[in-house]
Amino acid sequence: MTISPWIATWAGLVPAGAAVLDLAAGNGRHTRFFAERGHPVTAIDRDVSGLVAADTVEVIAADLEDGSPWPLAGRTFGAVVVTNYLHRPLFPHLFAALQPGGVLLYETFMVGNERFGKPSNPDFLLKDGELLELVRGRFSVIAYEARMISEPKMAMVQRIAARLSS
Ligand SMILES: C[S@@+](CC[C@H](N)C(=O)[O-])C[C@H]1O[C@@H](n2cnc3c(N)ncnc32)[C@H](O)[C@@H]1O
Repeated sequence: MTISPWIATWAGLVPAGAAVLDLAAGNGRHTRFFAERGHPVTAIDRDVSGLVAADTVEVIAADLEDGSPWPLAGRTFGAVVVTNYLHRPLFPHLFAALQPGGVLLYETFMVGNERFGKPSNPDFLLKDGELLELVRGRFSVIAYEARMISEPKMAMVQRIAARLSS
């Protein structure tokens, strides 16, 4: 599966060798991408059948929405990567999981996507400007987009690359 162009574009912001958290990692396309770039990666998903643990890849099976305690309590990373996944109660954990100067790379569907298909449930769609609003005052925003894309399919997405203030 191809890497998200957004992640590929902004991966260079992640400090060399910094630990990366790939949240809701799916089949691990970004886990592998960052591991190949020399980062230790922690990949977490409730379905880890598509993830392969290795010396520099830690795989954690966890349901992130069932009310269980945050599985990475006390751990911090140089980057948090989230693509095509949204569960709003996790945002405080994601921010707390970033080291000062750490990089947030987030990309997922936003309102307007319902005209192209799923996800169409508002719970899974970012509101207009939501990512910007979430990082305001805490992060330095390096790049932000809210737009229609045509690859890998027509969709409305919102995406951000931001660095946590030191
Ligand atoms: C659309 S996929 C995106 C995967 C990956 N981030 C990517 O972009 O290739 C959504 C992922 O969220 C995971 N997921 C959905 N609900 C979850 C939950 N409650 N706890 C943990 N992972 C969950 C799914 O298993 C799936 O791998």
